Amino acid sequence: MIKVKKRKILLLPGDGIGPEVINEVRKVLEWLNKNKSLDFEIDEDLVGGVSYEKHKYPITDEVFYKALESEAVILGAVGGPKWDNLEFAKKPERALLKLRKELKLFANLRPAICFEQLVDASSLKPEIISGLDIMIVRELTGGIYFGEPRGIVPIENGERKGINTHTYTTGEIHRVARVAFELAKKRKNKVTSCEKSNVMEAGQLWKEEVQALRDKEFKKVELKHMLADNCAMQLLKDPKQFDVIVTDNLFGDMLSDEAAMLTGSLGLLPSASLGTKDKNGKMRSMYEPIHGSAPDIAGKGIANPIASILSLSMALRYSLDLDSEANSLELAVQQVLDDELRTKDIMSTGKKQVGTSVMGDAIIAKLK
Ligand code: IPM
Ligand code: MG
Repeated sequence: MIKVKKRKILLLPGDGIGPEVINEVRKVLEWLNKNKSLDFEIDEDLVGGVSYEKHKYPITDEVFYKALESEAVILGAVGGPKWDNLEFAKKPERALLKLRKELKLFANLRPAICFEQLVDASSLKPEIISGLDIMIVRELTGGIYFGEPRGIVPIENGERKGINTHTYTTGEIHRVARVAFELAKKRKNKVTSCEKSNVMEAGQLWKEEVQALRDKEFKKVELKHMLADNCAMQLLKDPKQFDVIVTDNLFGDMLSDEAAMLTGSLGLLPSASLGTKDKNGKMRSMYEPIHGSAPDIAGKGIANPIASILSLSMALRYSLDLDSEANSLELAVQQVLDDELRTKDIMSTGKKQVGTSVMGDAIIAKLK
C-alpha cells in the first residue's frame, strides 16, 4: 500500500449528540489510518454551545484557522435549548454560519436516498419512496441567511421591526447552478430549479440565470423550473420525479429536511458543503450529518451514527480522493442494515436494536 502524505482532518463534534456520533467517525478514521496505511492527522476542537461555555464565543479564531488549514472539516451538530436565549452573535448556530460563509462553502449537497432495508421506516407508501435517490444542491452562502440590511430596529409607537434581506447576484446563481448541472451529468441528467419567481424579483433572476447557464453550457441537461411551494408538495406526491434539485439557501434548508424525512430518518443522511477549487485543485469543504443536535437524546448513547459516517464517506470521495474507501464504507453501512441492526430512530419490530457505538463498531467490522 502506498503511503499518502499527512492530511489534516478537523473534527468539530459540537453539541448534543454531536460528540457521540463524531466519536464513531473518529473510530473509522483511525481504522483507515491503521489498516489502509493512510496518514490522516486527526484534530478535534470545540464549536457551538460547548465553545461558548468555555470561551464565551461559539467559535474561536484559533478553531476557525484550524478549519481553514484542514483538508476537510467534519462537524457533528450545534445548538440546544440551553443557548436559545443568547444574544444573536453568540448563538451556537453562528459558528456554523461563519464557517460556511468564510470558508466560502457555497454549494451544499444533500442526498436523499432511500435505503431498501428501511423502506418501511418512511411515513410514505413503499412504492412511492422505494429506490428514491435525489440530490438537493442548496446554495449556502447567500440569500436571506446573509443579506444586508438585517437586524431588529425600533420604530414608532414603541414597536420594533425585524429585517432580513434576500439577495442573489448572477455570479452566485451561476456557480451553484453549475455544481447542480455537473452532478446531473453523472446521474439522470435532470435538474429542477426551485424559487418563488411569482413573488420575488430575486427568484425571477434565479430562474432566468439558471436557464441562461443551461442554454450556454449544459444544453444536454434537462432543466425544469418549479415554484418552491409546489416542489414541497411534489416531493410528497411523487418524489421520484426528481433527480437533482437546485435551490436557494432558505428553500434549500426546508426542502432538504422534507426530502430527508421521505427516506424515513434524518439519522441516515449526510451532507457536503463545498467551495471552489483553487489553482492547485484544492477545495475547502465541510461535511455534516443533516440531523441536528437532538438534545432530547443526547448523552444516552442511542443516536444513529450512520449520517455522520456517511458524511465521512462523502469527505473521502469529494475531498480526499479516496473513492474506493468511500465505496467500502457505504457498502459496510448497507451490510449492517442487511444484518438487521438498527438504532432506535430506525427501529422496527423484529430487528436488533443497538446503541451508537455498537452500530459504529459493526460498520467498522465490515470494512476490509
Ligand atoms: C441546516 C440547519 C442550519 C441551517 C441551522 C442549524 C443554522 O438547519 O444545516 O439545515 O439553517 O442552515
Ligand atoms: Mg436545516
